[in-house]
Amino acid sequence: MAGEAPPDDTGIALDAGPSSLTVTFGFGRTFFGKAGVEDQLPEALAPLPDFVSDALDRKRSNGDLWIQIGANDALVAFHALRALQREAADTARLRWQMNGFNRSPGATGRPMTTRNLMGQIDGTNNPKPTDDDFERRIFVPERGEPAWMAGGSYAVVRRIRMLLDSWDHLSLERQEKVVGRRKSDGAPLSGGTETTPVQLDKVDKNGALAIAGAAHVRVAAPASNQGAAMLRRPFSYHDGFRDDGAPDAGLLFIAWQADPMKGFVPVQRKLDLGDDLSRFLRHEASALFAVPPGCAPGEYVGQALLEG
Ligand code: HEM
Repeated sequence: MAGEAPPDDTGIALDAGPSSLTVTFGFGRTFFGKAGVEDQLPEALAPLPDFVSDALDRKRSNGDLWIQIGANDALVAFHALRALQREAADTARLRWQMNGFNRSPGATGRPMTTRNLMGQIDGTNNPKPTDDDFERRIFVPERGEPAWMAGGSYAVVRRIRMLLDSWDHLSLERQEKVVGRRKSDGAPLSGGTETTPVQLDKVDKNGALAIAGAAHVRVAAPASNQGAAMLRRPFSYHDGFRDDGAPDAGLLFIAWQADPMKGFVPVQRKLDLGDDLSRFLRHEASALFAVPPGCAPGEYVGQALLEG
């Protein structure tokens, strides 16, 4: 975003620059009927299947329109939210809203992969824009269906609470075994540094797998899922404490892919049954959105869908 305030503005972000403000719009399945464009409903927006470990709150799941607002400054993000809410007051009402955060830019001496609330370095083995197959995996191709989604992507949004009291009781060694990476620097237990490729077949001197059979990185890896991959861009959240005193905190897991059936769905099916980490997680809300490509100056996001 350019960081310019609309007329009659609230003034919340006065004095701030754009602060890397990004506003991303996605359409849920139910949008298409309401907007009179049922014939444009993408096949890829089929409802996500149920997973055994789901504990979903339907009121905080799905929705017609998803708006993700990100900024380096919380005031700027809130300002954008208020401006959009005012604009949409006669058209839309709020279904759910979640606040997430990541490490503030500049908090570490050098740019680093962020940590999640379990303390793990999270995001290392994501597809990279420089990978040959990045575009194919993450974005709907030019000749993809429906045409208005060409260059767009599908976002899976899951609110995943972490059972932090149980997690924090595990020894460091157990925590690392559950994930398959070292906590201090994110290096795989098969050796090397954070960015060393994971060697799933490596065995130690006793013949045991260096990365355990049910370790999160093994079960989630493309190699274990016929190449299924997604771009994970999550946020942490903390919404106070539950009645039992446990933190209501975890990961707003957001995964981007060209087709959820070749990204999130097969991987979550596998994690659902055989991931050591899932004992420490509760999936509490879920949604899937079709995110159209960005727009040129003078156009608006989703114009190709709404105006043909
Ligand atoms: C709160 C929940 C979760 C936590 C704390 C978590 C944490 C992590 C960590 C620490 C890593 C290793 C570093 C990295 O490569 O980023 C990782 C890797 C990964 N996670 Fe998760 N994860 C969670 C949920 C999920 C879910 C729901 C999925 C997909 C359905 C997923 C898919 C992946 C994938 C694909 C990798 C990379 C595996 C590889 O190729 O090495 N994760 N996760």
